[in-house]
Amino acid sequence: MVSVRSELLNRYSQGVCIWFTGLSASGKSTTAAALARIVLEQGRRVTMLDGDVVRTHLSKGLGFSKEDRDLNIRRIGFVASEIVRHGGFVVCAAISPYRAIRDEVRAMMEEGRFIEVYVATPLQVCEQRDPKGLYAKARQGLVTGFTGIDDPYETPLQAEITLDTVANSEEENAFLILDHLIQRSLVDSDMRAPSLKAL
Ligand code: ADX
Repeated sequence: MVSVRSELLNRYSQGVCIWFTGLSASGKSTTAAALARIVLEQGRRVTMLDGDVVRTHLSKGLGFSKEDRDLNIRRIGFVASEIVRHGGFVVCAAISPYRAIRDEVRAMMEEGRFIEVYVATPLQVCEQRDPKGLYAKARQGLVTGFTGIDDPYETPLQAEITLDTVANSEEENAFLILDHLIQRSLVDSDMRAPSLKAL
């Protein structure tokens, strides 16, 4: 009885935060959504904290100065750490351009629960994608302080996972993350359903 209970606890209560960082249009949100879809399909609830969405409520009114970005990331990190503490699975996707604040968020969680995923899409590719036309505006000087153009992005030095969104599809990248979580026993190996194992 006890072992069944502890097995269930182990299986369902491992809190984990998957933190996507990378340039605008690098593929953070699409990969995060693909991961969330797979995890949900396997029966685990997922909370998604996406920078673009968070900025419409929790961080409404904040701009893109270093101070405002840090505040935005601290808020996301705080919510994420609470979710992790209570055994939840949380996926965060924000540029989070500053290394120090990413490390601060890492330190808010129990060791091993913060998985930094660097979406390493080259600037040139992000700029070609430019879904919101913001890179073009930044190049014309119509938007200033734009990450990668005239504002810094500090590349992670020891991300748990680095993704290539040019060579891999979002699904393939989501499964790379899932495999990492399985290896670390943060999710059950059943997460990789038989039908998906071929991917
Ligand atoms: S962060 O720097 O605070 O982590 P966040 O991920 O929340 O940024 O928001 C980034 C999104 O805001 C971008 O994908 C882009 O659509 C939009 N945006 C508007 N202005 C800027 C800017 N100056 N730099 C970067 N992104 C901007």
